[in-house]
Amino acid sequence: MKPLRHLSKYFRKYQAYLWWGFVFVTLSNLFGIFPAQAVRVAFDMVQDNILLYKCLSGFMIQEEMYDIFVGVLFFFAVLILVFNLIKGGFMYFMRQTLVVMSRHIEFDLKNEIFTKYQTLPLAFYRRNNTGDLMARISEDVSRVRMYSGPAIMYTMNLITTAILIIWMMLSVNVVFTLYVLIPLPFLSVSIYYVNSIINKRSDAIQSQLSALTTYVQESFSGIRVIKAYGVEQAMLRDFEAESEQYKQRSMSLAKVDSLFFPLMMLLIGLSTLITVYAGGMAVIKGSISMGNIAEFIIYVNMLTWPFTALGWVTSIVQRASASQKRINEFLTEEESTDTGGKKPFEFHREITFNGVKFAYTANGRTVLNGLDFTLKKGQTLAIIGSTGSGKSTVASLLTRLYSVSDGAILIDGENIDAFALDSYRQHMAFVPQDVFLFSDTIFNNIAFGLSSEEIPDIEERVTEAARMAAVHSTITDFPEGYKTEIGERGISLSGGQKQRISLARALVRNPEILLLDDCLSAVDTVTESQILSNFKTVFEGRTVLIISHRVSAVQGADQILMMEDGTIAERGTHAELMALKGAYAALYQKQLSEAYRQG
Ligand SMILES: Nc1ncnc2c1ncn2[C@@H]1O[C@H](COP(=O)(O)OP(=O)(O)OP(=O)(O)O)[C@@H](O)[C@H]1O
Ligand SMILES: [Mg+2]
Repeated sequence: MKPLRHLSKYFRKYQAYLWWGFVFVTLSNLFGIFPAQAVRVAFDMVQDNILLYKCLSGFMIQEEMYDIFVGVLFFFAVLILVFNLIKGGFMYFMRQTLVVMSRHIEFDLKNEIFTKYQTLPLAFYRRNNTGDLMARISEDVSRVRMYSGPAIMYTMNLITTAILIIWMMLSVNVVFTLYVLIPLPFLSVSIYYVNSIINKRSDAIQSQLSALTTYVQESFSGIRVIKAYGVEQAMLRDFEAESEQYKQRSMSLAKVDSLFFPLMMLLIGLSTLITVYAGGMAVIKGSISMGNIAEFIIYVNMLTWPFTALGWVTSIVQRASASQKRINEFLTEEESTDTGGKKPFEFHREITFNGVKFAYTANGRTVLNGLDFTLKKGQTLAIIGSTGSGKSTVASLLTRLYSVSDGAILIDGENIDAFALDSYRQHMAFVPQDVFLFSDTIFNNIAFGLSSEEIPDIEERVTEAARMAAVHSTITDFPEGYKTEIGERGISLSGGQKQRISLARALVRNPEILLLDDCLSAVDTVTESQILSNFKTVFEGRTVLIISHRVSAVQGADQILMMEDGTIAERGTHAELMALKGAYAALYQKQLSEAYRQG
């Protein structure tokens, strides 16, 4: 139960719903009891008067009495109907308050979790898989909702019904009451056990279903590879195996599931049987009336559902508690290691890497091995080097996606961690190596989080950024232009088109510092030189870090770093590095001759 304490702040927030819910539960139960009493009165009346009626046989008055009799019984029937209607009305309001409350809590909890997700560091996302994160916010939250709504509602119902009815019963006859109540605890306990088994098997089905879904999903996204390799039959075989598992588990659930209702009916039937038997004996002894038996049968029927619910509620609470525990694990997870200081971002002179060392995991391989370099404000620094030499890692560290393991990154002599993270990132735009576009319009992918309220001329800025990234004419060629949907819902773009949209996304933010990680790798040399000539205006007055494999993209930079295995092997301007006749010069010659061969 302990993990569920996390919810108490929500219960406090929505306590009005809770109180009204309690009032409605009590009222609906009260109006459930009245019909039972009406039935007893009617029964006893019939019994008392039937003798009198027989005595009057042959008299005129017998006819008259019969009419009055029928009239009174009709009145009772209407009364019972009205009571039940009122009870139904209150039950409606009970759900309207308690179930509505649980929906509010569900909404708040989902928002809380999603907000938390956004603040967690990248390291967290490497540790946890996507399916798990999804399950927390969907499945686990809905289990918690079952607790905060239905479970609480049925518990309130159980308590008020039990108190009211058992009190009524005891006031009639104590011994008879005890007899009648005997089967009910068995009902609760057995429902609880059956339910636990049902839950365990449903979980197994659920996990098999998600395995099946993942498999199908992957086969859709990888359909081109599957067809190209002609492995459809093998895929089908694997699918059948997964599907078979699913079937087996579903069947095993069906076996227990079908036990649930018969078991409930058996125990309810048993209660009724005992009521009639023990009641009959008591009537013979004269300790209760016939009407009491009828009344008790209704009571027993009213009690069975809450007692069934007790077993059910217990397992809901257990599951909710386990789910909330998993949610809490995430909610108490340490937030980004570098939410940083409070200083607003300021940049006047230079960015300095001071003996920066870095490993992705605590005892992992050192990826950067003591980097020292300075990037002056307004200048362009280029990094070139073989794959895996640590170029992207430099960009990740500068964007503060990770923190350095040793050494420091300084801006005007101030450690970057001292700046408030949001202010820091506002001044920086990063084009990552692996392009990511959302299933949305091209316009929204470029504007990305900027709204027309903040920036009135957003349309012009997006078009301008797209022009700079040499993708404007491609976009306007689409029938729907900037409104074209991309991704799952829309068209597919080529690798180079995606890269240029991703570049436009960075340019539209008009950043002070621009980080470009291999952002032209998928465009042809003609487009590349077009973009590079646009860059001359883009880079003006900006501080730029550009990463590339191609000499053509870096040769205009004020300073070029040639990286090898996490260290800087060579550094200088293009002319200086050429004069050095080292690795850079060799790379230049190689790429030049390749370009020459391609003509
Ligand atoms: N998220 C990560 N977790 C663990 N190791 C990583 C991670 N990203 C990169 N690495 C490792 O760090 C090293 C440097 O990677 P990095 O991405 O910086 O290389 P790169 O120079 O950008 O290469 P490329 O030119 O192929 O983009 C590689 O050996 C890589 O395996
Ligand atoms: Mg890289």
